[in-house]
Parts: sequence; structure tokens; C-alpha cells
Amino acid sequence: MAQLLRFIFIGDVVGTPGISVFQKWVPKLKEQYNLDAVFVNGENSAKNGNGITPKTIQALKSAGATIITTGNHAFDSKDVYNAFNERDDVIRPANYPSTCPGKGYALANVNGQTVAVINIHGRVFVNELVDCPFRAVESLIEFLKHKTKIIFVDFHGEATSEKVTMGYYLDGKVSGVYGTHTHVQTADDRILPGGTSYITDLGFSGSLNSVIGMQYKSILNRFLIQHRFGKFQVESSSPLLLSGIFVEVDADTGKAVRFERIRIIDKDLIVESEPENDKK
Ligand SMILES: [Fe+2]
Ligand SMILES: [Fe+2]
Repeated sequence: MAQLLRFIFIGDVVGTPGISVFQKWVPKLKEQYNLDAVFVNGENSAKNGNGITPKTIQALKSAGATIITTGNHAFDSKDVYNAFNERDDVIRPANYPSTCPGKGYALANVNGQTVAVINIHGRVFVNELVDCPFRAVESLIEFLKHKTKIIFVDFHGEATSEKVTMGYYLDGKVSGVYGTHTHVQTADDRILPGGTSYITDLGFSGSLNSVIGMQYKSILNRFLIQHRFGKFQVESSSPLLLSGIFVEVDADTGKAVRFERIRIIDKDLIVESEPENDKK
């Protein structure tokens, strides 16, 4: 009988509220789905929502994260450069310049099977300076396919068209292509014809009543009066939101056999307020 492996992939964790909801719900989901591994995008997990820090890496790992991906906020905190160089389980986009700290993929041993996660960055409306994500991911898959059939891609991008195209481009070559970065979960989760599970965006994890995790008023001023000098503040009110997907993969073929969206709204969890004193 084929070995089935079960995973969740949680979208961008924003600030302390994102960490809190991840810490509360991931252990429950592990039990509920009998999970083998947990992947999470941690690019906004710093207290102020900008970047990831050694402390938030530790918090996500302690709560059960197997591999942590990032995106355009990967290097917002200088403190984290060493972590990218020293750790194998925290990655940055693979199509960043090779001189950047860290690398763009990670391997994990999951119940005796090697599993790979690739992080790749889009370049439509977000970062036109990175290498072509399609060519970059293709050469990385060419390298990784000799190690495993179970490969997931976190495609960190803004444009839905770029992400959907990537889904079809990689259909049949990887187990899942999951979009991150917009922080808004899309309802187009499906298993593509070649067996690749796909969603345009996983959504974010943090305070529900916010603008992608940040306080509404700090964002509003940017639009109303072109206010460029105020800092965005992480919203920390309840309820909290946890967003992502669950996927079950046939280890022999690498194909997804079951795929579900996760969107948990937690009205009971209260986040202790903390000063927003992380340095950018
Ligand atoms: Fe993000
Ligand atoms: Fe991002």
C-alpha cells in the first residue's frame, strides 16, 4: 500500500498575533490531521510585522514548524542574516542573487521520506530585479528530483496571473504550488490535472480585523493623504485568523491525493500587547 504523507502549509504569519494563533492551533491540527510535517511562511513574524528574527524562528519551530519560508521581507531584520546562513530549515527566495544569505530550498526527512520545499519570488508588481522565477524553479526542480518526488513550492508573488501560470507550469512536476505574499486567501484551491495541489494565495495568520495584518488606520492614511512617514502597526485585536492548506501526498508518486483549505477564526485567543520596538 502506498505511503501517504500529510502536511499543512500556513500562510504569512504577521507579528505576535500571528505567532500566538500558530502556537495555539498547529498542535491541534497536528493531531486532527495526523500531520507528518508543517511548513510556514514567516516573513512577517517579527513583532512589528517586518521580517523574521531569531526569536520568531524559535517560536515557530517550537510550535511545530518543520521548514520556514520567507519572501520580500526575508532580510528586514539584520539580526537574522546568520540564521539564514547557519540553518537548513529557514529559506529565502531561490531567485535572489546567490550572494544573499541562505538558500532557496530546504530538505527534510519526514517519516523516512525526503521532502523538499522551494521558495521562489514573483516579479510582476513586486520585485522586477530578481531572476526569472520560472527558469529558476525549473533548474532547482531538475536538481531536486534526483533526491525526492515530494517537492513543494512557496511562490511569493503579487500577481494572480503569474502565480496561476506557475501552477500549470509545474503541474505534474511537484506536489504543491502555494502562493504567498498578498495575505488574502483565495478560493481556487484544487488539484491540477497532473496531480499538483495549487492555491493562488494561502492567506495570512494574524488579527482578522486588519488590513493584511496591520492596523487599518495606519494604512488608510497612506491612501487618503499620501502619508509616507508613519509606520504601519501590527493589529493585535481578537478574533485571530489562521490561514493555509492541508495536503495529503502519495509518497510513491509525489502526487496530491487530498487537498483542503484551512481558515480558522479564533474569537477566544487574546494577544498580550507588546511594545512595537523591533528595529527594521
Ligand atoms: Fe507577507
Ligand atoms: Fe511578501
